[in-house]
Amino acid sequence: MKVTVVGAGNVGATCAQRLVEGDLADVYLVDVVEGLARGKALDLAQAAALVRHARRIEGGEEYAGAEGSDIVVITAGIARKPGMSRDDLLAINGKIVTEVSENLRRVCPEAMIIMISNPLDVTTYLAAQVFGTPRERIMGMAGGLDTARYQTFIAGEVGCAPYEVEAMVLGGHGDSMVPLPRLTAVNGTPFEELLPPEKIKAIVERTRNGGAEIVSHLKTGSAFYAPSAAVVDMVQAVARDEHRIIPCAVQLQGEYGLEGLFLGVPCRLGASGVEEVVEIYLNEEEMGALHASAQHVRETVAAWENLPKG
Ligand code: NAI
Ligand code: 2OP
Repeated sequence: MKVTVVGAGNVGATCAQRLVEGDLADVYLVDVVEGLARGKALDLAQAAALVRHARRIEGGEEYAGAEGSDIVVITAGIARKPGMSRDDLLAINGKIVTEVSENLRRVCPEAMIIMISNPLDVTTYLAAQVFGTPRERIMGMAGGLDTARYQTFIAGEVGCAPYEVEAMVLGGHGDSMVPLPRLTAVNGTPFEELLPPEKIKAIVERTRNGGAEIVSHLKTGSAFYAPSAAVVDMVQAVARDEHRIIPCAVQLQGEYGLEGLFLGVPCRLGASGVEEVVEIYLNEEEMGALHASAQHVRETVAAWENLPKG
């Protein structure tokens, strides 16, 4: 498997490291900043003897190196600073993602796309417009990360390991995301039996602010260790044909009563990409929250479409 990672910044470089050191894929790293991807790729290659893997990693500014990629991970763009929402990145990242997608389409039009750049649900839509790829092969990473944060906060409160928490966070990657306490369990025990409502509410809120909490500590950038782990989890599900359900931003075609937009829903991932959009039962309140999140994504897409393009 060959994966091209576009953007050799925090998420991209960490993702590249996890992919080669986890022996999942050969990697080509691209960045617009001269020398950045080449230098980081060379550094990562020189760790191979120590970490003991035989994966190839190369980098550069040219897209030719992306030829033959099975998967492309797009992390190019700017990250948030304190006080900014993901939507504040729209004008700049929308242009970057469109340009990057046009470059990639020339060299690896058949590659599966995993989008990371924010605002995630909109950038995934923009890349899909450029690639024209079937929906099975283009998805955004956010639900896996938001779920991992939710699991971490629950584990901290309950006193278990994060992976013992069964949970899922749906919806857009932003304040309107939809954690689902009713469907959350710890080793089979319903979450709502383990903690009082006010604690659950606080955990849901902290999950929604999970990205901003890290930005407030870092001040000059946003999270990248957990995000890169969430990307690699998706790549692994595809590379190893795991048929595993991970919430991803995917184009909805009537599922959950929604059509056309990209939004986080449970997806079964395997070698062909999104094998199935899994429709779980949502009660009225949960479905209402998912639709409100969809409305926010639609408004952000409309805001992009109304932006003057120069
Ligand atoms: P970063 O600033 O560390 O890295 C971004 C890289 O993109 C930089 O090296 C920059 O030179 C490069 N870049 C900019 N324009 C480019 C272009 N036209 N072509 C190629 N490369 C280009 O940022 P970081 O922390 O890696 O975050 C990247 C993006 O991912 C941000 O938009 C951030 O908001 C988003 N993100 C999304 C997450 C999610 O859950 N979907 C989680 C974490 C970050
Ligand atoms: C996060 O949630 C910045 O979207 C990114 O950390």
